[in-house]
Amino acid sequence: MSWSLASEVFPCDPNISAHLHQRIERDFAARWNEQWKGRFILHGRAQTPNSVRLDGNDYLGITGHPDIVRAQAQALRHDAEFAIQSSVFLHGEHPVRQLERGLAQWMGKEDGLICQSGYAANLGLLQGIADASTPVYIDSLAHTSLWEGARAAKAPAQPFRHNDPAHLARLIARHGPGVVVVDSVYSTTGALCPLADMVEVSQRAGCMIVVDESHSLGTHGDEGAGLCAQLGLTEQVHFITASLAKAFAGRAGYFTMPAAMRHYFLSESYPSIFSSCLLPHEIAGLAATLEVVKRSDQERVRLHRMSRRLRNGLTELGYPVHQGTEQIIALEAGTEPATAVLRDHLEARDVFGAVFCAPATSKNRAMVRLTVSSALTDAEMDHVLDVAAEITPMVKPWDWPIARRAAMSRAGHANEALAMA
Ligand SMILES: Cc1ncc(COP(=O)(O)O)c(C=O)c1O
Repeated sequence: MSWSLASEVFPCDPNISAHLHQRIERDFAARWNEQWKGRFILHGRAQTPNSVRLDGNDYLGITGHPDIVRAQAQALRHDAEFAIQSSVFLHGEHPVRQLERGLAQWMGKEDGLICQSGYAANLGLLQGIADASTPVYIDSLAHTSLWEGARAAKAPAQPFRHNDPAHLARLIARHGPGVVVVDSVYSTTGALCPLADMVEVSQRAGCMIVVDESHSLGTHGDEGAGLCAQLGLTEQVHFITASLAKAFAGRAGYFTMPAAMRHYFLSESYPSIFSSCLLPHEIAGLAATLEVVKRSDQERVRLHRMSRRLRNGLTELGYPVHQGTEQIIALEAGTEPATAVLRDHLEARDVFGAVFCAPATSKNRAMVRLTVSSALTDAEMDHVLDVAAEITPMVKPWDWPIARRAAMSRAGHANEALAMA
């Protein structure tokens, strides 16, 4: 359906301003009508009970775990006094404080702050540690909430090339020490951060480093304590932040901090001051989830095995999934229309990923993102690979811009090698 403001605005509403009208026409209507052909690109078919879903972030398949449901139900039934207020007011032995300390201990840190979401955690953390005279060196693929945090702090953002510590070092040499910001596992490609190198560059240059572990907390490291823990880098990383809406399958965020900074953050971080705290059953659920996550070694092993199987299978079929190595797998068709076609072919065969496009990716790097969960059965994984094989001639992954760039780069390297021989 072609989009026009006249057909969308409720007739009794007052007219929106001409400026807003122009903005919508410029930024949205053209995209809707021309690129998306009148259908919201993120919404494909509705799933059925038979659908194989690779569109969520519950990596360990813990949604509905009886321990978690029991804890949530008990908290809902328990008629304790509870004030809905912002988290700045929570102290003492409040269950939020117990969870904050429990998470910190598990991750090898001193203390931390529970936030309403990973987005709020990143915003509040950066607001507290950067300001207008603190350069924030941020990986070009780091999560948007980290960029927004730098913006909220009014800090000059200095993006460095994705996973390129040498470029980071050059930028720091030019602009001086500040805060380095990376994701442990990148949320669109599943690429692993070269964390040891990033930490080394940051340390050498006198920078603090923030690691967003949203996609490695619960899935990597002993008891799932994360990638910093797995690599023995926890003590060298200043702040670890994470969404608890991934392997924790909850609805919250968290960042670690030295205990002595707690009241400082509670005076500076706007999401903790100006937005309300989590509800008692959410806290009880997260506390139970932490225990479930710790004992989920089998699920972690299966998750990584299934991720390798899917990556290897797709690679053998000619899909260019070389950008990452972990449980997030990007099928980067490139343009939005090509991505919608890919999505439709997958969904017609009951395989559901998630469409990512601008502003979640850069323009013309749209993708169907597949995320693996340990809860997927072998038969489901067989089905995904069968479908990927069946649609290969229709979606021609070797023609995607990312595949062509990789082929050109390989040819360039081969020529260099020949010239040097
Ligand atoms: C790396 C990363 N950080 C932060 C967030 C934000 O988390 P939340 O959904 O809990 O706000 C996400 C989620 O998309 C993410 O992928």
